[in-house]
Amino acid sequence: MSDLFDKISKDATMRLVKMGKQQGIYPYFKPLSETEGTSVIVDGRKLIMIGSNNYLGLTTHPKVRQAAKDAIDRFGTSCTGSRFLNGTLELHKELERRLAIFLGTEAAVVFGTGYTANLGAITALMGRDDIAICDKEVHACIIDAVQMAGCKLKRFKHNDLADLERILQELDVESPNAGRMVLVDGVYSMGGDLCPIPEMSALCKKYNTRFFVDDAHGLGVMGPGGRGTHFHFNSPNAPDLIMGTFSKAFASLGGVIAGSADVIEYVQHKARSLIFSASMPPSAVAAVLACMDIIEADPDYTKRVHVVADAIRTGLKDMGFDIGHSVTPIVPVMIGSEMNTVFAWKAFYDYGVYVNPVLPPAVPPNKGLLRTSYMATHTDQQVEEILSAFHEVGIKAGLISG
Ligand SMILES: Cc1ncc(COP(=O)(O)O)c(C=O)c1O
Repeated sequence: MSDLFDKISKDATMRLVKMGKQQGIYPYFKPLSETEGTSVIVDGRKLIMIGSNNYLGLTTHPKVRQAAKDAIDRFGTSCTGSRFLNGTLELHKELERRLAIFLGTEAAVVFGTGYTANLGAITALMGRDDIAICDKEVHACIIDAVQMAGCKLKRFKHNDLADLERILQELDVESPNAGRMVLVDGVYSMGGDLCPIPEMSALCKKYNTRFFVDDAHGLGVMGPGGRGTHFHFNSPNAPDLIMGTFSKAFASLGGVIAGSADVIEYVQHKARSLIFSASMPPSAVAAVLACMDIIEADPDYTKRVHVVADAIRTGLKDMGFDIGHSVTPIVPVMIGSEMNTVFAWKAFYDYGVYVNPVLPPAVPPNKGLLRTSYMATHTDQQVEEILSAFHEVGIKAGLISG
């Protein structure tokens, strides 16, 4: 008789994990003993952090820290319940009102994480008879949600409008009565490139299909005042639904779905990840509100991170690194094979720079990359240090010719 756990010792991923640990090149789950945003202590050494989604550097902003502490003093550490029942504070409602205005929608609902926001909204709205049409590079949690919803899944080539239109035309003929939604990321989390939102919205309108934008990496970063990727494009048609997370620029934990009032009310009453899971703790809600206060008080606040990322992109391109099509604070450095990606990560780690190695299945086979990401709080001196590190490590590791 076989045992359920027998597979573990034979699993290919687990073999790689074992080998990586034996050889001292295992890059994941590394605990940070200290973090001040742009620098961290790992294994007793100080590293420059270029692997965080803390785009505005707000996790350590005095006003954000204080707001979280005040919320604990006033409401305690947890709501100990679902939004549906005892877990809604007036603070959650205030955040939803503020987010709806910020995102330019009628209403918004906040979830415990960005992942559960996608899971809840998509499974609430889509079922067996519906069709989800997803970009090939859409975030994993959208695919998880679509699978959980049990709807049909069609995928179009990354950011390829012609491929999307071909699918929509086919569906018009094959399944004219199915409910349809196109799902994309506003900012792609690995490539740092943008979805062409105005053109995609127009296609969705033309083919009577709903449009969902996961703007996890655009919220607080893209567009005037950080209001999101559709504002960056000044898109004439807003997406039907916008999803955002608070675990990145908004220095907290949680997620939001924003859209028209009737759809949001429906999601509130149908999203199982909202109803059967506890609500955002008060400190997390207060931290998001404090971040919004800061960036709303100064519409230029979100500009600095782009200055940093522009300087890095220019420097890396000049040195000969392949950085794909990034136009955001996410700047991938393309490497290739899994082994080379891990060795490149190790070379940066040993030098004193924290980057994230990204391997399949997060990217296609042999498309391993170092995901680097930048913060408004990186100083000009740190930018110089980062570029020197890329120059030195890049030559040593054979990533550039020098
Ligand atoms: C594009 C995208 N969507 C959703 C999520 C999930 O958000 P969270 O980490 O807040 O659950 C992430 C997180 O990495 C993401 O990158």
